Amino acid sequence: MAKITTAVLQKMKQQSDKITMLTAYDASFAKLFAEQGVDVLLIGDSLGMVLQGRSDTLPVTISDIAYHTRAVRAGAPDAFVIADMPFMSYGTLELTLQSVVPLMHAGANMVKLEGGDFLLPTVKALTERGVPVCGHLGLTPQSVHIFGGYKVQGKTEAAADAMLAQAKALQDAGAQLLVLECIPTALAKRVTDALSIPVIGIGAGNVTDGQVLVMHDLLGISSGYIPKFSKNYLAQTGEIRSAIAAYVSEVKSQTFPTNDHSF
Ligand code: KIV
Repeated sequence: MAKITTAVLQKMKQQSDKITMLTAYDASFAKLFAEQGVDVLLIGDSLGMVLQGRSDTLPVTISDIAYHTRAVRAGAPDAFVIADMPFMSYGTLELTLQSVVPLMHAGANMVKLEGGDFLLPTVKALTERGVPVCGHLGLTPQSVHIFGGYKVQGKTEAAADAMLAQAKALQDAGAQLLVLECIPTALAKRVTDALSIPVIGIGAGNVTDGQVLVMHDLLGISSGYIPKFSKNYLAQTGEIRSAIAAYVSEVKSQTFPTNDHSF
């Protein structure tokens, strides 16, 4: 399999070859995911919830993400790895430039930041300095207290138009990938069609250029609330390698997500 780069991801969009992404936090799972052909590994700040047992992602630190990025990189030396920038680690430009260093040193190929307009100078500064950026719009979990809970975003026409404008602005500022979380499928289609960069969805229907899931949801081991957009592939297959392979195959064939997983 060709080594994944930003250029390869771009080509996959052009060729309608769906991109598969999973969160990964350790070397063993990273190795398994890479072996099963998962295109992109994300060290998500979801680790605050699924590894640390916190109620949201806000307590996660740069050293947490750097630690897990090092582990993932050790398990999957050739994988395309995205490291999440945790809450407030990109609150100012100066802080952002300090925060990315341990993540890139740990082996990240790209960093992911949540938000729209306020991030545009940050995205520009990072890409100008050689740090590829993935944007994240929709239900951005670091803003859970602003949203008043984990709610579908972009439901009104005004909110949808604003999100589309933000997505275009992030691309223009230099973002090379975009995650859309928990938004109506119709809006995800508008954004995916309007952007030249690949768009990865989670709870955004099967119309995006690829999909991402939290690995604990795929394995059915997340505790508490199970989001509508997740799917327990271990229950379906009974074996970890087969569960990962089934996820890859269903994303590639666009049979996941179905309408039941979408808004
Ligand atoms: O933190 C994370 O795992 C994420 C994905 C859900 C996209 O941001």
